[in-house]
Amino acid sequence: MINSRIYEKRRAAVARALKAAGGGIALLPTAPEVARNRDSDFPYRHDSYFYYLTGFSEPGAWLTIEASGKSTLFCRPKDLEREIWDGIRLGPKAAPTALGVNQAFSVEAIDKTMPQLLENQRAVWFPFATHKGLETQVDGWLNQVRAKVRQGAECPGSQHDLCKVLDELRLVKDKHEIDILRRAGQISAGAHVRAMQTSAAMLRSGFKGGPREYHLEAELLHEFRRHGSEFPAYTSIVAAGANACVLHYRAGDAELKPGELCLIDAGCELGGYASDITRTFPANGKFTPAQRRLYDIVLAAQYAAIAATKTGKRFTDPHDAATRVLIEGMLETGLLPKAKHGKVDDVLASGAYRQFYMHRTSHWMGMDVHDCGDYTEPKGKATRQTDALGQEVLRKPSRILQPGMVLTIEPGLYVRPAKGVPKEFWNIGIRIEDDALVTANGCELLTRGVPVDANEIEALMRG
Ligand code: GLY
Ligand code: MN
Ligand code: MN
Repeated sequence: MINSRIYEKRRAAVARALKAAGGGIALLPTAPEVARNRDSDFPYRHDSYFYYLTGFSEPGAWLTIEASGKSTLFCRPKDLEREIWDGIRLGPKAAPTALGVNQAFSVEAIDKTMPQLLENQRAVWFPFATHKGLETQVDGWLNQVRAKVRQGAECPGSQHDLCKVLDELRLVKDKHEIDILRRAGQISAGAHVRAMQTSAAMLRSGFKGGPREYHLEAELLHEFRRHGSEFPAYTSIVAAGANACVLHYRAGDAELKPGELCLIDAGCELGGYASDITRTFPANGKFTPAQRRLYDIVLAAQYAAIAATKTGKRFTDPHDAATRVLIEGMLETGLLPKAKHGKVDDVLASGAYRQFYMHRTSHWMGMDVHDCGDYTEPKGKATRQTDALGQEVLRKPSRILQPGMVLTIEPGLYVRPAKGVPKEFWNIGIRIEDDALVTANGCELLTRGVPVDANEIEALMRG
């Protein structure tokens, strides 16, 4: 049963935003079904915006919201033959009660009904550049309205990107969303614990030909599904040894060897919400001194970033804090020889740290693992700045963190073999990632159900 009150409130917020911007009608399709190969589809996943406003996860659906607050759903009609093969459909008759929309029609009537809804609206809002062919469809409907202008119909005079409205709403999570994100974080943390313990246990037992990356991926999936998660929120990364230095590696068939690290970046999707955790641990449960040295630097960087994640700080503050600690570590360990690279500020200015830390520390997280939302202050004034590649760009100030925003904190160090780099660190890749909910006084880490301290990881893997 869908709690339609949650979605009615969100639709009302959209209607208010439309009204404040001069009125109009918003229209929004859900995601299409995608074929994998002959007669076989990829598992269906609704569109996040659409789900945010309806809680409805059937394919073939559309929603409209008018500035007046009126909402209309288009959905697949009841069809006994299709329902025998593919499952029950809600159907337009039951939709108003089930979803709290004002009216519903069969999606088969959309080309006739949508132009009627667009008639006499001042503006039309739809998500730009997100649904293939949507602009052409809207053009077709607007043309139908225009054909009636001589009969006195008015055609919407402007088009706006609905994402702008929805991104702002989705950026600050409500209680319903936070409850689900907490649960998703707990499940994913449990999956990481299970994978760590399995790795050590398989090595202890002398399992022939393993453990391999796919063994641990299977443990993650088992734990996700066991707790009702629908899917992984993204393709799980399980990277043995040097594979951890490939940022977008996925679980393959490499063997996890004693003395090497394993990096797992994986999280479940639960009720339409993501989680995103990375842990790096010794395959056999015991860090080598070199691994431990780099691990503790990344962990210290994460703590510095966590301390900078609070209401009133800017989105870039955790990254800046983490980067400084990582650079200090690079200088201390000789990854960047001090004699050549100078002090922390010199390394920041030269960008030399990017050899070992080449990604950002955070991204928004929510329904999508890399969630929507502006990373700069919407009302901020843009100034000329120099970007990471040394190009002059116009940029607004970084977003000020507010309670209810959710972001990841994921510093790392990745050491590829290279001249001048101490050999003991070659092929070590470490990332530590947790999901943080910004609160009034700081942040709540949603994913700490799996240990992060090196001693605690070793203790867990001994158990
Ligand atoms: N798992 C994707 C990321 O960490 O951004
Ligand atoms: Mn992430
Ligand atoms: Mn991740």
